[in-house]
Amino acid sequence: MDRVEMRRVGSDTPMGRMMREYWIPAALSSEMVAGGAPVRLLVMGEKLIVFRDGMGQVGVVDHRCPHRGASLFFGRNEKDGLRCVYHGWKFDVEGKCLDQPNVVERDKTLDKSPARAYRATDRNGLIWVYMGPRAVPPPLPDFGPLEFPGDQLIVAASQARCNWLQALEGAIDNSHTGFLHRTELENRLKRGGSGPDTELLRYFLACQNPELEALDAEWGTMYGNRRPARPGTAYWRVGHFVFPFWSIPTPGPFGRDRQVLGWIPMDDTHTFHISLRWAGNDRGPRAQESAIIETLPNTTDWYGRWIPAANAENDYQMDREAQLRGDSYTGIQRIPNQDRMAYESMGEMSDYDVEHLKSSDLMISRTRRRLFAAAEAHERGTMPPAVDNPSICNGARGGDYLAAENLKFIDSYREQMREIDKAGAAVEVK
Ligand code: FES
Ligand SMILES: [Fe+2]
Repeated sequence: MDRVEMRRVGSDTPMGRMMREYWIPAALSSEMVAGGAPVRLLVMGEKLIVFRDGMGQVGVVDHRCPHRGASLFFGRNEKDGLRCVYHGWKFDVEGKCLDQPNVVERDKTLDKSPARAYRATDRNGLIWVYMGPRAVPPPLPDFGPLEFPGDQLIVAASQARCNWLQALEGAIDNSHTGFLHRTELENRLKRGGSGPDTELLRYFLACQNPELEALDAEWGTMYGNRRPARPGTAYWRVGHFVFPFWSIPTPGPFGRDRQVLGWIPMDDTHTFHISLRWAGNDRGPRAQESAIIETLPNTTDWYGRWIPAANAENDYQMDREAQLRGDSYTGIQRIPNQDRMAYESMGEMSDYDVEHLKSSDLMISRTRRRLFAAAEAHERGTMPPAVDNPSICNGARGGDYLAAENLKFIDSYREQMREIDKAGAAVEVK
């Protein structure tokens, strides 16, 4: 299959089958209240309804009622389940049919007509769905901020109107930061004072074409950007791709802040994007700056959730005058809006034939290769990384640091891991 098609995620595609091996975060826990309105969810190209019954349990079902196919979106959310308003059939959170009130007693078949339901659970402020083939689902992921309880997380959601991999690649694209986000970084430097963050930021801004190393890792892929720093040292910025749709950025000094980004396919051309940031060390404006963006009020449309206020229809609220005056490199406010402009403007599924990838894009080409190879291997029966052992993802940590000038990337990374915890030995890079 060609590389364009490999990005598709329907249930009949290699990537779609591989992704369905994992738990998939599909909504924020706050989107549905007990006994409240069911919500239309588009996940991996499938139209689903999520609801929280009167007892607070979450159910995810095919939107079509198994009786005659009317949409359960219009259902009545009752204490113990969702009742279709067409003929009154009722289903619990596991899809079990509880009532067929329009059918004569001798013809009732409650056990033979369940709603098609997926396993769902509520954790870290997110509703997770398992859409895979196993009767007993694998463990939930537990890496990065996902290790922390929901009340210690800053959770933000937005929708990207393009393919999930294209959006994810925006987060592991290495050399754009010093251009696309230049104004924000320069402003941060001006505000900065004289702490270590400021010193690192200075090295960062001084070099726009760092050396890039990209490696395969147990959990996916990882990169290090190397820039000149104080005599005898090198300045590294590190990030990761984690199977199947996560990225770990460089949120600050290595080992201090924890952030993970999810790029979850709604379908082939729409992406549910989440940012989870551990609030432990940084509850201030900087944590907010990198994560939460203004979104329009959610609607009940399949595509109506978490649409950013700055979007393609208004040119991301670009201020051309500010750009011309030199006040802003892009004229677009906020880092996430700048990122979204870049990857959405490639079109809903970018055309690989127009690309000219260079050494600055090694992380992107390596990640595509690793992902597509894993999806092909999965077709032949090989389970992709971290499905059964999600804790390996704990070896993936992002951040920046100074290391001895002569250290290889992976050795400098292991050294940092040893410093922040005892997990250094567990970091294996193939
Ligand atoms: S279509 Fe739902 S009860 Fe008939
Ligand atoms: Fe960016």
